Amino acid sequence: MSEIKLEIDGKEITGEEGQSVLEAASENGIKIPTHCYHEKYEPTGSCRLCLVEVRVQGGRPELKAACTYPVQENLVVKTKTKEILKTRRLTAELMLARCPESQAVREIAEEFGVKKPRFSLKNLNCTLCGLCVKACETAKGESAITFAGRGTNRKIIAPFELSPKECEGCGACAAVCPTSAIKMVNIEEE
Ligand code: FES
Repeated sequence: MSEIKLEIDGKEITGEEGQSVLEAASENGIKIPTHCYHEKYEPTGSCRLCLVEVRVQGGRPELKAACTYPVQENLVVKTKTKEILKTRRLTAELMLARCPESQAVREIAEEFGVKKPRFSLKNLNCTLCGLCVKACETAKGESAITFAGRGTNRKIIAPFELSPKECEGCGACAAVCPTSAIKMVNIEEE
């Protein structure tokens, strides 16, 4: 695997081809906050909490999700600009508006100084991180749960909102859910 030289927060580091900025940063002790990332699954970049500023040589700075953005030669990354912190704070605020009871989300909100969200959203106890869908796909090869709807109506459901026959009750979705929105229950001794 070839080595790639890049800079994160003024520190010159060496990454590996195929690595994401998040992985390279974490290997070099640079912490970037995450929520929907899980090392077991392909990242989807859905929560946007790991946004960083990236500048490819000669290019303009852009905000990208560190968990999905690949390391590149001479890439310059900043993880804590004013704009980044403002964007992460807003993301944390939206998460808290949707999941006021989730411990994981409360901790994120606290980290970014959000006490009370300015918005009122339907309490779904779900941040739509998509980890449950990934976990189900990985466990079964196809997912018994999926995303549905758009915008504020977006949610995760079983297809047609029926009890999915593909579900074997393996619990992979519940185990990975960061907000504990998915619960396992016993039905007829199963
Ligand atoms: Fe990267 Fe969620 S952790 S977008």
